[in-house]
Amino acid sequence: MTLRLGLLGAARITPAAVIYAADAVPEVSVTAVAARDIARAAVFAQEHAIPAVSESYGELLARDDVDAVYIALPASHHLVWAEAALASGKAVLCEKPLSGNALALRSLLQKDHGPVLMEAMHYVYHPLWARVEEILRAGTLGTLMEIAMHFSVPHIPPGDIRRSFHTAGGALLDLGIYGVHMFRRLLGDPLTVASAEAAGVEEGVDERFRGVLTHAAYPGLTATVTASMSPKEPLAAWLSLSGSEGSLRVQNPVAPQLGHELTLTSKGGELRESVDPTPSYCYQLQAFADAVLRGKGPATDGADALATAVVLDALYKKAGLPPRPALER
Ligand SMILES: NC(=O)c1ccc[n+]([C@@H]2O[C@H](COP(=O)([O-])OP(=O)(O)OC[C@H]3O[C@@H](n4cnc5c(N)ncnc54)[C@H](OP(=O)(O)O)[C@@H]3O)[C@@H](O)[C@H]2O)c1
Repeated sequence: MTLRLGLLGAARITPAAVIYAADAVPEVSVTAVAARDIARAAVFAQEHAIPAVSESYGELLARDDVDAVYIALPASHHLVWAEAALASGKAVLCEKPLSGNALALRSLLQKDHGPVLMEAMHYVYHPLWARVEEILRAGTLGTLMEIAMHFSVPHIPPGDIRRSFHTAGGALLDLGIYGVHMFRRLLGDPLTVASAEAAGVEEGVDERFRGVLTHAAYPGLTATVTASMSPKEPLAAWLSLSGSEGSLRVQNPVAPQLGHELTLTSKGGELRESVDPTPSYCYQLQAFADAVLRGKGPATDGADALATAVVLDALYKKAGLPPRPALER
């Protein structure tokens, strides 16, 4: 059986996240695209050999040749279109964050939303992440004392959706979300905000963010997330875990296909390894197909996205900034 996927938005991320990934997942076929401007959608369809173009997002949701949609829009627009897609009986793979804030997402999840709803937290589905969790579970690091995740992307120009409050911009929501999600995966819920600072704030949008989280089950442990879209900071993504018996540093846990390395330092010495250069998006798309076609609930479902959103909202609040917007239907 083929999963026929429609695209809401002709976004920059879509070729990597879905179109090329579908080459590795033969049971997924991209059948239609809709963009705000139909001419742009038509060009996108031609470039990527997508058979059909719809005049609007709403028209795409009514198509019979679409079973599921991939949503890659501004973060403020994700939830409203996810909700509309689910109401049309389409399964949803939605870019992160699934919602600009927790409140709006909570109200969707209070109802039975029907088809599969999955947040595109692609890194989780890559074997590199499985290896991180395996090392932690093995106890090689001893008692965990400190975790940190950093993600900085310098080439985000003025006018980008990430730089406007209206489109739910901000370094924490766009980049820091990975650190918060990783901490939740590693420690479990609930995380508590100890401190948070936003810097380079313009019209409510944080260019840089630093948040420190704690967890009652890990006394003394701090989990620090730093995120930046400042043009002055180099492109970097790393995760580090320090424990009483050893440490682990993961270079590039978010895009392992661009090169990554795990460095495990313990009593046994230093071990460096890399896992698999396959893009995380291929594993993510397979997980989505498994969820829709085989009923295998995704790890990054609506409830998981809500738990992340709760922490992100709390971090913004502690830093003196409002939660990001989520459009309503
Ligand atoms: N998973 C990952 O690795 C990854 C990487 C990058 C981005 N993302 C996520 O993917 C999403 C899209 O990111 P992107 O960089 O691909 O974005 P983008 O290309 O700048 O924008 C995505 C789409 O949003 C619509 N849009 C743009 N500006 C808008 C505005 N002012 N108001 C309403 N709609 C607007 C457009 O839809 P139309 O085509 O219909 O005009 C555009 O194609 C974001 O949520 C981001 O967090 C994920």
